[in-house]
Amino acid sequence: MISSVRSFAPAYTGPEGQEDMPWLLTPGPLTTSREVKLAMLADWGSRDIEFRGVIAEIREQLLDIAGATDGYECVPMQGSGTFAIEAALAGFCPKGRKKKTLVVSNGAYGQRAARILDRLARPVTIIDKGDSRAPTAGEVERALIADRDIRTVFVVHCETTSGIVNPIEKIAEMVKGQGRTLIVDAMSSFGALPLDMGELGIDVMVSSSNKCIEGVPGFAYVICRRDLLEASEGRYHSLVLDLYDQWQAMQKNGQFRFTPPTHALVAFHAALKAFIAEGGVEGRRERYAANRDVLVDGMRTLGFETLLPDTVAGPIIQTFLTPADAKFDFDTFYEALRARGYAIYPGKLTRTPSFRIGTIGRLDEAVMHGVVQAVREVLREMGVTSAAPAH
Ligand SMILES: Cc1ncc(COP(=O)(O)O)c(C=O)c1O
Repeated sequence: MISSVRSFAPAYTGPEGQEDMPWLLTPGPLTTSREVKLAMLADWGSRDIEFRGVIAEIREQLLDIAGATDGYECVPMQGSGTFAIEAALAGFCPKGRKKKTLVVSNGAYGQRAARILDRLARPVTIIDKGDSRAPTAGEVERALIADRDIRTVFVVHCETTSGIVNPIEKIAEMVKGQGRTLIVDAMSSFGALPLDMGELGIDVMVSSSNKCIEGVPGFAYVICRRDLLEASEGRYHSLVLDLYDQWQAMQKNGQFRFTPPTHALVAFHAALKAFIAEGGVEGRRERYAANRDVLVDGMRTLGFETLLPDTVAGPIIQTFLTPADAKFDFDTFYEALRARGYAIYPGKLTRTPSFRIGTIGRLDEAVMHGVVQAVREVLREMGVTSAAPAH
């Protein structure tokens, strides 16, 4: 399986006439395969029996990938990832002054979850690790022991703000031992980093269509314990984000309650086929890790420094510190790379100037060598002589 991954070489994957569209080196939407795009050329009726079969297969396969076959449900939800995060927080974080949710935050997505809980008037407490440090299971354990009112823990698997991979296995084991509910935001990692919900005792996991399964934007999904889903009835602040209702409708007739993103769903179905053919999570992780290695080695050769040490950086997205050279200007750098066919991502850190380059999507090592070469040319063009950051 893996050897076929190594020789995987995506040529341009878009329609004719758009060959100048850039590779998306971003953490979703991302570059998808031609097969995924072609799947969207048909128009499906949302009540069509075949289309309902597509939805059923997607739900089943996602449960399988998550190791969540026994006692879990998969509920897809229209919208982007945050829609499903808000739905999950509404359904699984209890109301009531003495029923708190602990948000373990080390970036923008932890902070966003805390904001949502605040809007929902659900009590929240935070462990804030800043932008680039990983929380430890010990820290979370101390917080749970110190505050018995904490019922639920929310943690991000790969915090896409920096690309850091949090120690989810250790945190899950500890949260389970402490008898609390665990919600994992695995938006940017699911499908590329192993996550066995059943084995780790993870209660709820959220991801979306346009990440490591390599579909297009349009829906997200919550995989959760069935008993928690049943208990969530009546807890939702919003009709459209009511996971329980969505689940009930799907159980009854296999349909979404409201207009589904039909094209995104059939594209995702095609993406799942390619995912399985590539060797599932292991195959994908291998390819993304190879992408990361080519990129990081190449950028270091050019003098760039990464925000994170290699031990925690993960294969999803890499954060590079902005060069201190006065001639370096991010907007110029971005535009010049874009003109050469590579769309990178601005930084999202609160303190350290940085930019990011994603390594997920239908990309391989050849694309990564290409972007490193483009960066070399653009630095020369800008007159930047050193890519070293300020210290
Ligand atoms: C870890 C994580 N959580 C949540 C989100 C939010 O997803 P969306 O932008 O699709 O709403 C993202 C988006 O990249 C993410 O990476």
